Amino acid sequence: ADEIRSLQTSLKAWSKRTPRDMPWRGVGDPYRVWISEIMLQQTTVAAVVPYYERFLARFPDIATLANAHEQDVLSAWEGLGYYSRGRNLHRAAQAVMSNHGGEFPRDVEALRGLPGVGRYTAGAIASFAFDVKAPILEANTQRVYARLAGDEGDPRTSDGQTRLWNFAERILPARGAGPFNQALIDLGALVCVPGRPKCEECPLVHLCRAHRAGRQDQIPPAKAR
Ligand code: ADE
Repeated sequence: ADEIRSLQTSLKAWSKRTPRDMPWRGVGDPYRVWISEIMLQQTTVAAVVPYYERFLARFPDIATLANAHEQDVLSAWEGLGYYSRGRNLHRAAQAVMSNHGGEFPRDVEALRGLPGVGRYTAGAIASFAFDVKAPILEANTQRVYARLAGDEGDPRTSDGQTRLWNFAERILPARGAGPFNQALIDLGALVCVPGRPKCEECPLVHLCRAHRAGRQDQIPPAKAR
């Protein structure tokens, strides 16, 4: 419990020293969080920003998106690839309009009922937009959790995923889950990078099992074993 409190405090202090601005951050708008997270699923932040701006200019809110012709949504998606994402986006907007009165639900289970919204995206919307205490697990945070926990297993297996989701749940603060989750993404993107992490810059190094064991370059394993 002391360790978790120390992790939360140290991470918060680091994120204040290391601001990372993105157009969808800190706006508290679930629509914007949702669009950005779907775009970020297989595309880098730098590539997403111009698409995001253009998409938002064309479909500024959920009602506009829901009422658009599918072809217009798909053409705004052109270049991002993975057209199923664009199609699901349109369907999910219609589901929010018809099943939720045009307002995004706040809880993870209801969010997961939307087309194209898995556990990660639901946790991102709930925590970033509503500050609900919901964990996230994506490429960056997966690496951070595996190293903090000293988890030598393959994170791609379903057991591996379960362990990492449980870890993510365990370290969440009662309040401020949104900024906490964003800081974990940033830590993974900037410090706890793939391959050889920059442990000398890491605010959580004193809590990291992988570092303590000198295993930070081997966790998570590069390939299934
Ligand atoms: N990758 C996935 N979600 C992200 C986010 N919100 N910020 C930065 N990188 C991300």
